[in-house]
Formats: sequence, C-alpha cells, structure tokens
Amino acid sequence: MYPSCPVAWGHELPSSLVKVLFVTPECYPLVKTGGLADVAGALPLALAPLGADVRVLLPAYPGVRGRLRKVRTVAPLLSLMGGDGSLLEGTTAEGLQVWLVDAPHLFRRDGGGPYAGPGGEDWPDNHLRFAALSWVGAALGSGVVDAGWRPDVLHLHDWQAALTAAYLHYDPVMAADRPPTVLTIHNLAFQGLFDGALAPSIRLPAHVMDGDGLEYWGHLSFLKAGVLWADHLTTVSPTYAREILTPGGGMGFDGLLRARAGHLTGIVNGIDDHLWDPATDTHLAPPYSTYSTRRLHAKAVSKAALQAELGLTVRPDVPLFGVVSRLSHQKGLDLLLQAWHRVAHRGAQLVVLGTGEAALEEGFRHLVGHHRHDVAAVIGFDEGLSHRVQAGADAIVVPSRFEPCGLTQLYGLRYGTLPVVARVGGLADTVIDANEAALRDGVATGFAFSPVDAGPLGVALERVCDLYAERPAWQKVQKRAMSRDVGWDLAAARYLALYERLVPAR
Ligand code: ADP
Ligand code: GLC
Repeated sequence: MYPSCPVAWGHELPSSLVKVLFVTPECYPLVKTGGLADVAGALPLALAPLGADVRVLLPAYPGVRGRLRKVRTVAPLLSLMGGDGSLLEGTTAEGLQVWLVDAPHLFRRDGGGPYAGPGGEDWPDNHLRFAALSWVGAALGSGVVDAGWRPDVLHLHDWQAALTAAYLHYDPVMAADRPPTVLTIHNLAFQGLFDGALAPSIRLPAHVMDGDGLEYWGHLSFLKAGVLWADHLTTVSPTYAREILTPGGGMGFDGLLRARAGHLTGIVNGIDDHLWDPATDTHLAPPYSTYSTRRLHAKAVSKAALQAELGLTVRPDVPLFGVVSRLSHQKGLDLLLQAWHRVAHRGAQLVVLGTGEAALEEGFRHLVGHHRHDVAAVIGFDEGLSHRVQAGADAIVVPSRFEPCGLTQLYGLRYGTLPVVARVGGLADTVIDANEAALRDGVATGFAFSPVDAGPLGVALERVCDLYAERPAWQKVQKRAMSRDVGWDLAAARYLALYERLVPAR
C-alpha cells in the first residue's frame, strides 16, 4: 500500500509537496467502465511516494460511498445544478483519499451505469451531472468551496471533467484565483456534445456558444473547454498525441489541438503491477494457478482452468486467444469476426469477454454457434474473469482502429499473454512485433499488424499459431514480455515533473 495522505507518511510533510486534485468520472475500485478508471485509481497511488498529495474527486454514484472507509461530510453543495448536495470525503482500502460529489438528484439512480440508464441510452441530464462534477472541481480549486485542503493543480480527465476549465475561465471569482490545470484526453472520440441552448442551465453564459467559446460544429462541447483553456494537455501515448494532430485522427479537433501542440504531451499509461501480477493475483484461486517467469509451466494450469470454465475442449497444444474489451467500432473486433476462419481450421481457440454494441455481441454469439468447443463469448462486465482470461489465454487480441493507449495489451505483457495489436496509438508504442529481425535480436514482445484490416489481422493470427508451435521461441518472447517494465513509475515521474513545472513557486 502506498501512503496517499499526510498522516500515512508519519512525519511532517515538506511544504513543497504538490497537491493535486484528480477530477474524474471513474476510479477503480469504486466505479469502472474502462481504462480511465484503472488510470485514476493507480496513478495517484504511484505519485504519492514521489512526493505528491493526490486526491480524487468523483460523483457519488450508487454503491460508491459504501466502498469507502471513514466517510464524512466536508462541505455543503447548495443549488448544484438543480438540487442540493454535499461533498463527502473517504478513503479506499488502498489508502486513496477520495472526495465524492453527493448530489442525489444527479447521481442516485436505479440501474444503469455512470453514463447510461438500464436501457443503454445516455442519462438525459448528463450535461447537468458532469457540469456538476466539473463545477465542484473548479470550486475546490479556486477556493470558492472550502474543504480545508486546496489543490495546487487540477488534473482533469476526459470530457466529463473538462468543463472545469470553462468555469475557471468564465466565472470572474473563480478566474481571479485559479490553480493551473491539466487535461488528460483519454479518448478524443468522446467529446461531451450537448445542445447549446442548455448553457444557462449549467451556469455558463449564453455567449459560450461563440466560435471562440465552446461551440463545436453546432453543439456545445465540454471537451473543448479543456482543449482551449487547460494550461497543459496530455494524452496517453506519444503516437496518439501525434495522431490527434492530423485530420485523420483529430476527430474534428485537430485544428484546435495543433494550435496547442506546444502544450500537448503524450505519456504512456502504466498499470497497477500489484493488482495485475500473475504471481500474486487473488483472482487466480484453484483451479487456476498463479505463475511467474520462473514458474511459467503453471500458466498451463490456468489455461486448462479457463478452457474448462468456459466449456472449451481442454487442450494445451493449440493457442488460446483472448479478448477483454468494450465491443465498439473503435476496438475493431468486427475484423476479428472476419479473420477468425484463418486460424479456426488450425484448431485455435478464442475466449471473448465484452459488452457493447448489439451487432458485435450477436456476431460473437454467432461465432460460438459455429465453433461451440473452440470459441466462448461471455457478454458482460466481469473484473475477476478479465484477470482469469489474461492468465489463461496465450495471446490477447487488440485490433483497434484507434487506441489512445490501451491497457489490456499491457496486462497481456505482464501475464505472458502475448499481445496481438493493431499498429496504432499506444498499441504501437508498447508492443514490439515478433518479426524475424526482432526475434533474432531478442526484442520481440508480441505481434503488431497494419493496416488495420481483417487481412493483416488474419496474417498476424496465423503468425501466432506458427510461433506457438515452436515452444522454446514462444516462451522466450513470453518471458521477455513479462519482464518489461509496465508499471507506473516512469509515467508518474513525468506527471509530477509537469505539475511542478505548472505550479508557480510556492
Ligand atoms: P478502454 O478504456 O478504451 O475501454 P483500455 O484497454 O484502456 O480500453 O481499458 C479497458 C479496461 O477495462 C481494462 O482494465 C479491461 O480489462 C477492462 N474491461 C473491458 N471490458 C471488460 C469486461 N467486459 N469485463 C471486465 N473488464 C473489462
Ligand atoms: C481510454 C482509451 C484507452 C486508454 C484509456 C486509459 O478509454 O480508449 O486507449 O487506455 O482511456 O487512458
């Protein structure tokens, strides 16, 4: 456990300790729909021992409060986007200090998730819900709400928090005493677009829809606030940082981003290598087995357990591919459906854990229908099974059309489950293709293909089967992948250096 609050350090903290507030819609283990949660849960813990006091601000969705210890109310939040609420403070089991925007009219809902109701439709008041989160972030940063701890830096995550930068820009009281801000763009595809007429309902002036304000192709964009006014922008890999400056990857924002290119940095995510460690993973209880580079043979035990759990023929001799993913166009899994026949006839097996677009869910059900003993699809979200898939599969397939960073290929590296990735974004930055030269030079860690299409993916799947058949060569790559440093240390140091640079001399 890392210390994350002054008390845990057991001594007086240096006055220069930088205080950072993460404003985020997700944070593992409290609430998670994707990689942002993993980042918001792990990066603060990695920053703490480097000398940062990081707290996380997040909505009090149902169930979140109950997962925190020592919860107390720190400030009232009156008339917050249509109702009263309060700011709560608590601590996770890992020692992360969390502040919750407890606004029952916005966040206490039956069923559904953080962004959408039980039917999968976005909550109709998402503009109010994430304006509230953003406003509280701005209020804490500027001292308009006094919670007894004021951040030196506000670190905003994705569109749901990006409106913080608008309040700090438009509200004269907040603007007068505002801390520096960093916006991390985890995924430019999500831009927080709403009807411009809603501006007054979220405490923004009507002129916010001017061209040099938050107007974006006729909509009001929450993300644009951060892109325009955050003091620094980061995204989650250097390649994605370059891609979003181009018309092809900029999703309409490339012009604005190019104007801010001098304030944009790509920092590859790490993973929590305590939670994601095949040697100690608590999700690998029997019949699964923990393993390490020195006990790699025990990975076969987890493979057999996964095959048995999901009703596949238990065979050690064929490669078992895994997928753990949102089922969305971004993730390119339609390409896997098209390419699978290339290796199906060689006996390859596939396990898919995912949820999302109905057509993709149906596509995988259909594939299962044709290969009942070799393909399994679990449609749903299951944290424990995601660990078991990483442990039991031989290769993890990530054929994304674009991928800002991607975490499942990093989990794959750590688990010796060789990533098969599209050569885009963070996938290109984290996996070294097992081509002849890389194998000869001893640097390969997985398989990369381009362009992102079913044909090249099929070839990559075949290459996996070929290498898998040469067991010593396969194991060499596995061991190399497992010894890659995929933890947070490097990235955390880079974020800290950025915060230090932005904070005026204290
Ligand atoms: P993204 O954030 O774009 O969805 P990432 O690869 O960055 O992609 O992160 C996805 C995270 O969500 C990983 O921790 C992955 O294990 C997890 N995940 C995705 N789908 C599921 C699922 N169906 N069940 C459990 N975990 C999932
Ligand atoms: C986003 C991206 C993913 C990234 C994650 C965490 O969800 O789609 O590539 O790994 O954020 O930064």
